[in-house]
Amino acid sequence: MGIIYKTEGELDLIHEANVIVQEVLDGLQERVGPGVTTGELDAWAEQHIRSRGGVPAFLNYKGYPSTLCTALNDVIVHGIPDQRPLEDGDIVGLDCGVFYKGYVGDAARTYAVGEISEEAAELMRVTREGLWLGCQAMRSDCRLGDVGWAIQSYVELHGFSIVRQFVGHGVGMSLHEDPQVPNFGKRGKGLRLRPGLVLAIEPMVNVGSREVRTDADGWTARTRDGRLSAHFEFSVAVTAGEPRILGLSAERAAEVLSFSPDSDLELPRAATA
Ligand code: MF3
Ligand code: CO
Repeated sequence: MGIIYKTEGELDLIHEANVIVQEVLDGLQERVGPGVTTGELDAWAEQHIRSRGGVPAFLNYKGYPSTLCTALNDVIVHGIPDQRPLEDGDIVGLDCGVFYKGYVGDAARTYAVGEISEEAAELMRVTREGLWLGCQAMRSDCRLGDVGWAIQSYVELHGFSIVRQFVGHGVGMSLHEDPQVPNFGKRGKGLRLRPGLVLAIEPMVNVGSREVRTDADGWTARTRDGRLSAHFEFSVAVTAGEPRILGLSAERAAEVLSFSPDSDLELPRAATA
């Protein structure tokens, strides 16, 4: 296969696809709540994507049946929307992909349903911030290992585990391109990042062990120990300057890129060699 480096013009179009993805993820934030089903969320997402002239990217991908992947509580990724009402205290990962004008965007967030436990809130915060630190390593003076290392070291510092069985991926012309993007790694190792590289970075973080088991449906991936898992994802481009978080407004991208953990623990910093 090989890595497909994108031009500035192509990045603009991949951004447009991701704008639709972010509209869906923002709209879902308004709609998630006790009593709502993931099937209803899925139907709304599909309708919104089509109303914008896009096509759901996961639907029919290797036989996948829905627009969204919905990951409830101990589900890590690839849960299938259904008619079970969400309950107060649940957390649910919602992952969305969109084809638009021949390009594709991919992103995910984990959402709180009503009032959630402190443990669940901490898991979600650390996973989201780990993704942000990975995004900050998407620079032409870094390597792929710096991205995984930033995420892994931050997550493990907080006592959570990184799932190894699933990884991020190149994205843009098709949903899954080279290279694979582990959410763990060694500083200063691996592929040298170059302008035009676009990656879907998607840490999956467990409260307990990192082990996975898959349901009989062949899709739903759960924690082996039944404890909670969270998942956040952005499509991110390397440029000659700052990383470009595709689909975000300048303000929200600035929030991601300026994030700094407020602890006196040793912070993950990408190698600049
Ligand atoms: N963001 C996920 C991924 O990149 C979603 C894919 S779901 C699938 O793997 F159904 F399309 F496989
Ligand atoms: Co993805």
